[in-house]
Amino acid sequence: MKVEASAPGKCILFGEHAVVFGQPAVAVAIEQRITVIIEPIEGEYWKLEGARLDASKHPHLNTLRHRLWPKSAGAPALSIHIKGDIPRASGLGSSAAMSVAACAALRAARGRWITEGDAGTDGWAEGFASTVTDTDAFEVKDDSKAGLRLAQFDKRKHHLVGHEAVHIDECALLGHAVEAAAQGGRASPMDASTCAHGGVVLLSDVLEPEVEHMYQRRLAMSDGVRTWELHDLGMPKGGDELYLVIGNTGVYAPTAAQVAKVAEAIRIEPQRMKEIETIGTIARRGILALKNGDFEAVGRAMTENQVMLKGLGVSCPELDTLIRAAGPSSLGAKLTGAGGGGCMVALTKDPKATSEAIELAGGRTLISKFGNPGLRVEVAQDVPFWTPGQ
Ligand code: MEV
Repeated sequence: MKVEASAPGKCILFGEHAVVFGQPAVAVAIEQRITVIIEPIEGEYWKLEGARLDASKHPHLNTLRHRLWPKSAGAPALSIHIKGDIPRASGLGSSAAMSVAACAALRAARGRWITEGDAGTDGWAEGFASTVTDTDAFEVKDDSKAGLRLAQFDKRKHHLVGHEAVHIDECALLGHAVEAAAQGGRASPMDASTCAHGGVVLLSDVLEPEVEHMYQRRLAMSDGVRTWELHDLGMPKGGDELYLVIGNTGVYAPTAAQVAKVAEAIRIEPQRMKEIETIGTIARRGILALKNGDFEAVGRAMTENQVMLKGLGVSCPELDTLIRAAGPSSLGAKLTGAGGGGCMVALTKDPKATSEAIELAGGRTLISKFGNPGLRVEVAQDVPFWTPGQ
């Protein structure tokens, strides 16, 4: 019995931090991926890489376990192995990629009861999705019933397993819920949705014209309810000639602390919300440029976005050095993710020159083409591992 699922990391072109306050943003799935492998084991405790899982060190996995894998409902302990080429805590969405891949693996291994012959969300007897309003991925009170649609569950007829049971919207939704739990209740759905869907994802405060709308997400935070409209921007015209060169500073930078730092700065000086709004205005300019395939303007918007991020206090000298080095050979460069260390990203048509310049300045580089496939179930052997309600 074994299930394997993988998901890509992500790079943010514009709008990190401001998106947590509801401003627009764009993220791109990168070539680098994370794979999660799960197998059932005897005994009470979960294992990660052979050692007992420490819930406090792995809040994402722990929250997911409460949503999808309750011991009290008969779920067996699991052995988990995680592999991939996305460096941790570096702004490339390693935790979101791991969360959505783990969600897909757990769902494939557990399966999903449905009430009718088809797997459309209306016919689900269990699960979380943007169109399902009688379960709540964010607030789970009784984890043995988490995600069961109680009014439907008694009518369950068919049990889907493996990749047939997996739904990308569910993985994105749960991915967001576990990121929010790990980031003290403050997280946008950007990372989870980009790692789940792949391609180029646009978040906005409004429904964007001429772009495919995917769904709406809402999250109640300590300072108010946020709403995001998520769109699939598709591959921009001419995007196949573009590369993202990612430069890693090697400075460890967990997201939660950076997100809390920005929230605190705004709590102390509410007038700094203007800076957040300016990032939103720059992102909007960048989005228009992307839609028009005007990559010179996309690059300019990235560079302007970096000026604002630096003003907000989330850049650092190591990031500034790599961004400066990338300048002459790229269309634009900025930090990506939460900042404070981690990675920068440059948009370029000459990945070799940009990569060499960043390496000379002391960064380790990864190169990715623009827009990549999302979540995939790679292996589903002898599923289900267990079935709720049996
Ligand atoms: C982290 O990759 C992006 C942030 O905007 C946080 C979030 O969106 O939840 C800093």
